[in-house]
Amino acid sequence: MIITTLIDDKKLENSNLINEHGLSLHIQKEKQNILFDTGASGYFAENAKELGIDLNEVDTVIISHGHYDHGGGLETFFKENKHAPVYTKKIGNYYRVYDNGTKKNITWDKTVLEKNSQQIRYLTQDLEILENVHLLSSIKKIYPQPPDNKFLYQEKNRQLIRDDFLHELLMVIEEKDGITIFSGCSHQGILNMIETARNKFRGKPIKAVLGGFHIIESAFNNREECIFEVKEIADKILKYPLGKVYTGHCTEIKPYLLLKEVMGSKLEYLSTGMVIKL
Ligand SMILES: [Fe+2]
Ligand SMILES: [Fe+2]
Repeated sequence: MIITTLIDDKKLENSNLINEHGLSLHIQKEKQNILFDTGASGYFAENAKELGIDLNEVDTVIISHGHYDHGGGLETFFKENKHAPVYTKKIGNYYRVYDNGTKKNITWDKTVLEKNSQQIRYLTQDLEILENVHLLSSIKKIYPQPPDNKFLYQEKNRQLIRDDFLHELLMVIEEKDGITIFSGCSHQGILNMIETARNKFRGKPIKAVLGGFHIIESAFNNREECIFEVKEIADKILKYPLGKVYTGHCTEIKPYLLLKEVMGSKLEYLSTGMVIKL
């Protein structure tokens, strides 16, 4: 399996690719080409071209959740590919509400769903979308969620209520030597994501975990207890039979370095242009 990071918040040094706040991963597994998220704009497509990846050859697209930094590039994708099914959960309206009360709509442009309805598949339950490629629809709630979630809201009956993140899904690719877990932002907590996949594929080792963990610096402000919480997440991740963890996007640098202190070579930063062979 070859995974290419088409978009992440950071990029590899000396790379002439474009980075933005968002995530998009291209996965080539035998003859299957999968696109997991599309970043915030169409830049992922420019990077794909630069990296020699033809988006018209993508067989299936997965959008991890309803935030713009994951589904914002869909319009560009539909211009380049008119056959691949796009899997998403039902999407509502999502907001970030700041301390001063201002709010920002952070939903991706859903008009693309109507314009390209023949390619859209709504996920309502766990589903094997290609051979050994699974989408998991409901995430376990054993561990705490990231503290920054308190700023994230959804619209219900014209009112804003705290986001329950039921619009979030998880992708698991199963191979003979183990499973690989893909998460967009892990709003429901990376440990809950890993636990959900582990529970479904009992006994299978985890080859790798990839995605953003939504650990935001400002939500921590270096408070001792937060430093401890991040390190505790790292400790718990290490308890799983797991090969490697690649995180970037909404895992900000300070928390990343805290995770790295505990996880050492098991953890790597996921940057635009990075190619991972598993
Ligand atoms: Fe995100
Ligand atoms: Fe998100």
